[in-house]
Amino acid sequence: MPDPTRLPSWSKLAAHAEIMRGVHLRELFARDGGRFRRFALHFEDMLVDLSRHRITEETLVLLLDLAREAEVEGWRDRMFRGEPVNVTERRPALHIALRNRTNRPIRVAGEDVMTAVNAVLERMRRFSGEVRAGVRRGAGGAPFTDVVHIGIGGSELGPRMVCEALAPYADDRLRVHFVANVDPADLSLTLRRLDPGRTLFLVASKSFATQETMSNARSARAWLVARLGEEAVGRHFVAISTHRRRVAEFGIDPADMFEFWDWVGGRYSLWSAIGLPIALLLGFDRFLELLEGAHAMDRHFAETEAVRNLPLLLGMIGIWYTDFLGAETTAVVPYDQTLHRLPAHLQQLEMESNGKSVDREGRRIAYPTGPIVWGEPGTNGQHAFFQLLHQGTRLVPCDFLVAARSRTPLGDQHEQLVANALAQASALAFGRDETEARAELRAEGLAGADLERLLPHRVFPGNRPSTTFLYAELTPRRLGSLIALYEHKVFTQGIVWNINSFDQWGVELGKKLATRIRPALEDSSIGDADPATAGLVAHLRALRAAS
Ligand code: F6P
Repeated sequence: MPDPTRLPSWSKLAAHAEIMRGVHLRELFARDGGRFRRFALHFEDMLVDLSRHRITEETLVLLLDLAREAEVEGWRDRMFRGEPVNVTERRPALHIALRNRTNRPIRVAGEDVMTAVNAVLERMRRFSGEVRAGVRRGAGGAPFTDVVHIGIGGSELGPRMVCEALAPYADDRLRVHFVANVDPADLSLTLRRLDPGRTLFLVASKSFATQETMSNARSARAWLVARLGEEAVGRHFVAISTHRRRVAEFGIDPADMFEFWDWVGGRYSLWSAIGLPIALLLGFDRFLELLEGAHAMDRHFAETEAVRNLPLLLGMIGIWYTDFLGAETTAVVPYDQTLHRLPAHLQQLEMESNGKSVDREGRRIAYPTGPIVWGEPGTNGQHAFFQLLHQGTRLVPCDFLVAARSRTPLGDQHEQLVANALAQASALAFGRDETEARAELRAEGLAGADLERLLPHRVFPGNRPSTTFLYAELTPRRLGSLIALYEHKVFTQGIVWNINSFDQWGVELGKKLATRIRPALEDSSIGDADPATAGLVAHLRALRAAS
């Protein structure tokens, strides 16, 4: 693949950006009465409003030219066929197989992976049903009331985000807790509330070697053994992993391991057995609805023509801002409290996938790649960072997610929530110009020097872009399709940037250094550590010696 900046459409987009930099969204709407209709895309009951992006039809034509020249559709088809699109690790990236609800055969090394996928789904169905029904019980015969899922990164962010987002569908059968951080506070504060005889532990780790997860799992095991004895471990621990030997070494019977495969990336794994806590909390049928929603988005991505293809368009619009208009970050603002972990999940999905500066051929690259992703639910974010969005000096494209119906109605509160979402997207796009600000100040009774003094502060420049996703209700199906939409958007961008979105070598160095520094915190020498680290370790030891 050539450097994308050498593709013919790249220089055309750069020239087009020079013009578009001076065009305001007000102008684009004034020029075209049908703009909203033209830029509103539909997926099932969801409307995705692209009209408040700083684009014209010409921009889209050029962006889709770029996608074609970068062969996004060819790479997409290769991914769906199970070819090794993860080039550095020489593996397929087949999260789409985990939710392939039509069971179309997908072959890896000649074997249809659907046989193994369906076998694990069947085990998850049986196990979650038995735990929920109180058939599978703790060592002392009591039914489980609490599940502690121990995992980190992709082995925690996805399932946790989904469990919280779909909490309105949960019944009272089980409480599900998540422990990720190696900070002892995470596990200790969780266990403090729990009855060991009624607690089931899921140890979730693709590698079964991640330091945080293994430390927490060992501590959890010791906690259980101290209270119920060694023989209880088998009834209270199950593993979710690709690594049978390490699971056995840890002391969990491989028969109690829910398997997944090396072609499932951590940040794409919530659809695999890593999603077991979802099935435990909500029941297996809800988990299947989630998979079905994702599968419907997979088909949309694979089968829809480029001009209506949501992940493709959102990916290309993201590239427009990152590479041509200079945006460095993008904000995700769900107007839904239950989606409060969505920004964290998307941080891993986007930043671990596309935070790269070497291309697929190993060359250093000189164009911006994955943006910084951040966000908080609305309306909370309005009282924190929206000031910067409205009047700051930076360009921050925003995603607003909003449901027409609440799953937890209370008075008119959902109406207030929706009104705020719509109002913020409008204020960001259109702002308030000097004439309007002046009229408003006059209406407040100001005049003369007092008015002039305040005027510049009361102007909202606008022209700040956003996508609004508006759907009927955040059902498991809708959530599944939304997450898959983001996954394919990230894939599209990775292909255009000519990077491998499926590896994460950048997290290795810090992990290795931590292993070297750990013994030096007590008594060994810090060795060849850098002077700042050596200085900090010395101070830490002095603090401990003094107390
Ligand atoms: O942080 C790096 C990472 O490898 C992630 O990609 C992954 O999701 C996480 O660690 C956890 O890994 P594992 O599931 O192997 O414990």
